[in-house]
Amino acid sequence: MWRGLIEAYRDRLPVTDATPVVTLHEGNTPLLPAPVLSARLGCDVHLKVEGANPTGSFKDRGMTVAVSKAVEAGNKAIICASTGNTSASAAAYAARAGLTCAVLVPQGKIALGKLAQALVHGAKLLQVNGNFDDCLALAAKLAQDYPVALVNSVNVDRLHGQKTAAFEIVEALGDAPDIHCLPVGNAGNISAYWMGYSEELADGRATRAPRMYGFQASGAAPLVTGAVVREPSTIATAIRIGNPASWTRAIDARDASGGLISAVTDREILAAYRLLAREVGAFVELGSAASVAGLLQQAAEGRIPAGSTVVCTVTGHGLKDPEWAISTAPAPITIANDPLAAARSLDLA
Ligand code: F0G
Repeated sequence: MWRGLIEAYRDRLPVTDATPVVTLHEGNTPLLPAPVLSARLGCDVHLKVEGANPTGSFKDRGMTVAVSKAVEAGNKAIICASTGNTSASAAAYAARAGLTCAVLVPQGKIALGKLAQALVHGAKLLQVNGNFDDCLALAAKLAQDYPVALVNSVNVDRLHGQKTAAFEIVEALGDAPDIHCLPVGNAGNISAYWMGYSEELADGRATRAPRMYGFQASGAAPLVTGAVVREPSTIATAIRIGNPASWTRAIDARDASGGLISAVTDREILAAYRLLAREVGAFVELGSAASVAGLLQQAAEGRIPAGSTVVCTVTGHGLKDPEWAISTAPAPITIANDPLAAARSLDLA
């Protein structure tokens, strides 16, 4: 029986027998073949479906470790800044552990489902008149001055938890893929995957490490331009970040792996979001579609060799953002309670 990733990978995580394990049985997510993408690119493309985690995003991998360590250290409260998913995850794990949870989010810039999750799990939610980067600076200051543990990905325990996704991929494929595509916001996840793949290679479980391909939204692409973006803007609110905390780690992952970090437009993100939903059967959130948008972009530029094994992480569930989904999908048709009316509306009669 799967009992969460700390039990599965205990010997490769910063825990001991004294660490109280706070888990919602996260991890062990599907590695889903994407035949439509494989056929289009002449490659073997898989999606790592992180929306299948307990709170609907990859954040749970980091949170189980960070919250377990926070409890071990005697903390009674945790705090984070978030574009939504971190706050949802922190709130759930804090509830599980009986901790107080405070979250700082950019006002009006987080998806409705994520807001609902943080509130339902009982977090103290502060909407800040500022962007994510302002929220993170504020959260870090509070953690410095008051007895609350910071559970953003500047907390290295988070990265250790998140690296386990790479372990699962190597296990499923029998080796590391040639290329791994990820959306990049605060840059913790690309750093964590690189840590995971590097460990797999060093331990002899994999014969190679993949090229890490990171993708930022073009209106929030500091790692691409090399300069902090003061007013980041994109429809993909999850990755609307102008000054990533793991900047150096992400650049190291890019360079050490022979990879790249590129920008995708909102239009490309939306096209990938629709393709995933309608042709692959994967309902992911906009930010998550950046990995697939980036893969398609790079393929169009001839940078994905035929026959490559490619994994794209789709980081969060599409239901996180029902408002966006409904506002961009075709409107439902309303009919009378009548078979003929139904048949006509379906072009059957
Ligand atoms: N995809 C989703 C769905 C996210 O929520 C995030 C980050 C990312 C990708 C980017 O990952 O930051 O490690 O580069 N969300 C954070 C949050 C910032 O607060 O939920 P990253």
